[in-house]
Amino acid sequence: MEQTLVILKPSCVERALIGEVINRIQKRGIIISAMKMMMLNMDILKEHYAHLVDKPFFPGLCESMMASPVVCMVLKGVDVVSVFRTMVGATNGRKAAPGTLRGDFCMSGQANIIHASDSPENALIEIARFFKPEEVFDYTPSSLSFLYADDEITNQ
Ligand code: PPS
Repeated sequence: MEQTLVILKPSCVERALIGEVINRIQKRGIIISAMKMMMLNMDILKEHYAHLVDKPFFPGLCESMMASPVVCMVLKGVDVVSVFRTMVGATNGRKAAPGTLRGDFCMSGQANIIHASDSPENALIEIARFFKPEEVFDYTPSSLSFLYADDEITNQ
């Protein structure tokens, strides 16, 4: 089954929105395979945001990501990368649709509460960046047959 890497940013942690986000993840039927709190540093941020190092907002983005601990998670589900990106909403909270996490809980493109991988390929790279293999629990919840039809998960 597909996996995605999620970071609850300092704007989520500081505003006490961790529970709101986890609540929506679990109510949707998405499986949490790993979760931990950590402080990010410039080394990991330069790697994670390598595609943004030349942007004028890069220093501010990094500073905002180191303003408090973050919560990193690995989520699992059928098509979970695209399903969760839809739940997250547009990058800028002011443009994100109501009902999405950003559209309901933020007003910013930087303090936009959450990062989620943008493709299954990047998800695998990002998971390896933030988690050791032994920190990810690829368990099957007993509720699985109430989350999917058998034919939806046979080839996953
Ligand atoms: S996205 O959602 O990743 O596709 O969005 P993208 O436009 O590629 O933005 C990548 C990350 O850069 C952050 N960002 C900004 N930070 C500060 N200031 C401005 N103006 C700004 N614009 C974009 C944005 O929060 C994205 O962070 P992640 O962690 O990838 O969501």
